[in-house]
Amino acid sequence: MGTAYQQISVTAQPSGFGAAVTGVELAQPLSRSQVQDIEQAFARHKVICFPDQPLTHDQLEAFTLALGTFGHDPFIVPMTDHPHILELRREPDEKARNFGAGWHSDWSFQEQPPAATILHSKIVPPVGGDTIYADTQRAYAELSNVMKAVLAPLRAIHSAALPYGSKGVFASETEARTMKIITGVAAEKTHVHPLVRTHPVTDEKCLFISPTYTVGIQGMTNGESQALLSYLYQHMTRDTFIYRHKWQSNMLIMWDNRCTLHYADGGYDGHLRVMHRTTIAGTMPV
Ligand code: SIN
Repeated sequence: MGTAYQQISVTAQPSGFGAAVTGVELAQPLSRSQVQDIEQAFARHKVICFPDQPLTHDQLEAFTLALGTFGHDPFIVPMTDHPHILELRREPDEKARNFGAGWHSDWSFQEQPPAATILHSKIVPPVGGDTIYADTQRAYAELSNVMKAVLAPLRAIHSAALPYGSKGVFASETEARTMKIITGVAAEKTHVHPLVRTHPVTDEKCLFISPTYTVGIQGMTNGESQALLSYLYQHMTRDTFIYRHKWQSNMLIMWDNRCTLHYADGGYDGHLRVMHRTTIAGTMPV
C-alpha cells in the first residue's frame, strides 16, 4: 500500500499502529482527494487521530457522512436532535463504571457491524480517560500456522447480552449513570460471524472476537469455547499489539472496528469527560 498523501500529513505512532493526521480542517467540507488521503491513512494505520479540530455536532455528522453512511447505534439514547450522535458523558461525581470499559469491537453482534467509529473529545479529564486499542490483524498474523488452520473454519457467536441484556452489566448496576442505556431481552439475540474475518479494503485477515460481545464458538462446548477464546484474548491484548491513545480536547479519532478492539480506560473519578461519537456503517464480515 503506497503512502503518498497529496493533502494531509501522517505521522505513525511509535507503538506500531495508529497515526496522527494533520494538515486538514475537518470543520470544512472535504475535497474528494482529502477523503481519499484519509481513507488511505485509515486503511494503513487502523486508528487515526486528528488533533486540534473543534467541531459542532453538524460538522461531526458532515465529516462522518464524507466517509460513509451512519451506522445503527442501539441501546443508548442518542442526543436530542442528533439521532446519530451519542454523547459519552461521565460527571465528576459519577460512580458507575466508565462506559466502554471492556475490550470490544463496536456492535459486533449486528449482522453488518460498523466499519468505523468516530469519537470527538469535548472535555477531557486532566488524568486518566485514555482509550486503548489492540491490533487484531497483527495479532492474527503472529499466530502459528497450526493455530491459523484451527481457527479458519470457526464461527464465533456474538451477542449484546453481557452488557445490555435483561440480566447484563448495565441492567444490574446500582450506581447512577448519566448516559441513558436501554437494556432488555432484545439484546440477547445472537449473530454468528467468522472468527477470522478478511478486511474488505486491505484483504488482511483479522481476529474478530471480543470478551464483551463474543459468547461462544459455534459447535463447541462452553468449556472448549471459553478455553480457546481466553487464550486468544490474552494473545490479542499483548503489549506488542497495543496503542494507548491520550486525549486532548477537540481531538477526533477514527478507529477501524474490522481490525481493532478498543477499551475505554477509567482513572478520572472526580473529573468530567465529554465525548461525541458516531459510527460508519459496515458490511457483513466474511
Ligand atoms: C467506546 O466507544 O467504547 C468508548 C471509548 C472511550 O470513551 O474512550
